[in-house]
Amino acid sequence: MRGFIFNIRTKVIVGKNSINEIPIELEKLGVKKVLLVTDKILRNNTDIIKRIEGVLQEAKKEYVIFDEVKPDSECEIVDKAYSLAKSHGVDGLLSVGGGSSIDTAKAVAILYEKGGKIREHSGVFILQKPTIPHVSVPTTAGTGSEVSHVAVIKDEKEGRKLIYVDYYIMPSVAILDPTLTLSMPRSTTAYTGMDALTHCIESIHSTENNPISDAFGMHGIRLIKENLPRVMENPEDISARQNMQVAALMGGAAFTNAQVGVVHAIAHSLGAIYGIPHGLANSLILPYGMRFNLPECPRYKLVAEAFGISEADPMKAGEKAIWAVVDFIKKLGLPLTLKEVGVKKDDFPKIAELAIGDPSIISNPRFAISYEAIYEILDMAWDGKL
Ligand SMILES: [Fe+2]
Repeated sequence: MRGFIFNIRTKVIVGKNSINEIPIELEKLGVKKVLLVTDKILRNNTDIIKRIEGVLQEAKKEYVIFDEVKPDSECEIVDKAYSLAKSHGVDGLLSVGGGSSIDTAKAVAILYEKGGKIREHSGVFILQKPTIPHVSVPTTAGTGSEVSHVAVIKDEKEGRKLIYVDYYIMPSVAILDPTLTLSMPRSTTAYTGMDALTHCIESIHSTENNPISDAFGMHGIRLIKENLPRVMENPEDISARQNMQVAALMGGAAFTNAQVGVVHAIAHSLGAIYGIPHGLANSLILPYGMRFNLPECPRYKLVAEAFGISEADPMKAGEKAIWAVVDFIKKLGLPLTLKEVGVKKDDFPKIAELAIGDPSIISNPRFAISYEAIYEILDMAWDGKL
């Protein structure tokens, strides 16, 4: 039996109005001046940043705001945030937003140790010791970035996504306040929820799976199955919102310790080439990636179990798990084919080239590092052949 490492270094605080804990946690981490990393939409169109500023001001905590994060964070943005932080003598990071803001802060944390430009440092296990403290406050429920060891930053010059992997970039603290997810647009709620579901399922099918990540992944699926439809039906349902935040965090912890697979590899390509939101891209590929993997993945029985399906035969259970995912996507009202979102067959070679080079593909349960394998999945996904 092979051994494994399970690493989660993030303190997790969950609850309504838990943003009030931010100054206390910054104090415990010894932070004197914090860089609040966020985006203009959250700052200008919601009261979230004002609420957090109020909490910081009341505690007399010094802060500087960087609000230039875009939906897909870019190298230039990270470099700019780092320059601002250094010029103000910042000694801690506070990310508030979706995966892009949290990933931007993680990348700034890398620069605090490595210096230079972020483009120079992509890869795995980049740091040799802990870096600047980072409190993350997600406003979506999906990426799991608040506990994950990964940051994805777009190289805007080359048109591809750079991946940064290191246990030292896991945030020090994650604060899950469900009131912050109330302002999410309906589509973002669905997309990010599907990202979380994909993390849970891919961590289970990954070749790096282990019993602890299985537990996180399976319970994440159960929470998403129950709570995402509830949130879609009643966006004000705080308890379902909180359960979705917890599920997303569990998916993040699961894939941080078990990795993902071909679904994420292709989703990253679709994001880089077409700008398709990450969660939607995962949702579009998930059933077809599972179909491709099924012959070599008896572990989909665990996914079926988490969906409440009782079936002893692993292949039959896997088949039912695929259709449970399809039904779930339909229930959310999301598209099931690539042609519906404007993906062109002529672009398959470019999509495949990027997917083959994506580190996510390495731990896929069935060998997928070939054009044929990626074309097989894309062909199915293009017009929904399952
Ligand atoms: Fe993801």
